[in-house]
Amino acid sequence: MTAVEHRPSLLLEHLEARLATATDRHLSVARDWYPHEYIPWSEGVDFGDVPYDEARSRLAPAVRAAVQLNLLTEDNLPAYHRELNRAFSDDEPWRVWIDRWTAEEGRHAIVLRDYLVVTRCVDPVVLEQERMLAVQTGYRATEKDMLRTMAYVSFQELATRISHRNTGRLSGDEGLEKLLTRIATDENLHMVFYRDLVAAALEVDPAAMLTAIAVELENFSMPGAGGPQFRRRAAAIAKAGIYDNKVHREDVIEPLLRYWRILELTDLDAVAEQARERIVGVCAELDRRIARSAELAAARA
Ligand SMILES: [Fe+2]
Ligand SMILES: [Fe+2]
Repeated sequence: MTAVEHRPSLLLEHLEARLATATDRHLSVARDWYPHEYIPWSEGVDFGDVPYDEARSRLAPAVRAAVQLNLLTEDNLPAYHRELNRAFSDDEPWRVWIDRWTAEEGRHAIVLRDYLVVTRCVDPVVLEQERMLAVQTGYRATEKDMLRTMAYVSFQELATRISHRNTGRLSGDEGLEKLLTRIATDENLHMVFYRDLVAAALEVDPAAMLTAIAVELENFSMPGAGGPQFRRRAAAIAKAGIYDNKVHREDVIEPLLRYWRILELTDLDAVAEQARERIVGVCAELDRRIARSAELAAARA
């Protein structure tokens, strides 16, 4: 029995109807683009002639940490593909979406790696060693059922979009910013897709969907967590303001909760109310941490 078959059929029917609409809409708005057009190939020099030298990388350490972390996440696509297949099922309507999504995500790793290697922004040996490690470690989220997966990927796609966008802005590198903006556009469409499935589930089974959102918010971590050098890089990325609690709260959690009108939902049963309180609790805790960080920063200034 798949994870999907555990769900009541009314919810499934509703979701599959929305899935069809959302897939059609995605295919009508997603634009094809070509990674090779974003790479300054004329900058390329054989590594046998000129070895890599980190001192000559034009990226600041925090930006380098961000692109390496983002690329490792994109590299781990086979594991995410497997998890989506498990959580959503391998049946036709889901599979059409998952395979399309996989094809789009594959571009992100291609374009990022080509850019970083040709421009010598990052050590290609480290990139390859870490890719091997990340893919062999994989990613398992068997505790996430369909609704939890939908909640998680909504937050995660938006988080990835914001992270790519902020990395590009901070990079001071026009070519990198252009390609990260292009990737961020894809991530935004992915977020919109999952966000609308969550909205559909909220219409039919608010208690189950709100509970799934609450659990995922309480346990949220980016998909690259646990990978090579994650903690050190995440700290550098937070310090630079590319992705920290404030960004997570204001640019990721807030817009999604607002879109789903979580605080305005009415006629909720006790389970749904309890889940909503947990969601409000996560936001309050994040607000406390953000305020504390601001106080500490002010005291240091
Ligand atoms: Fe991506
Ligand atoms: Fe994505």
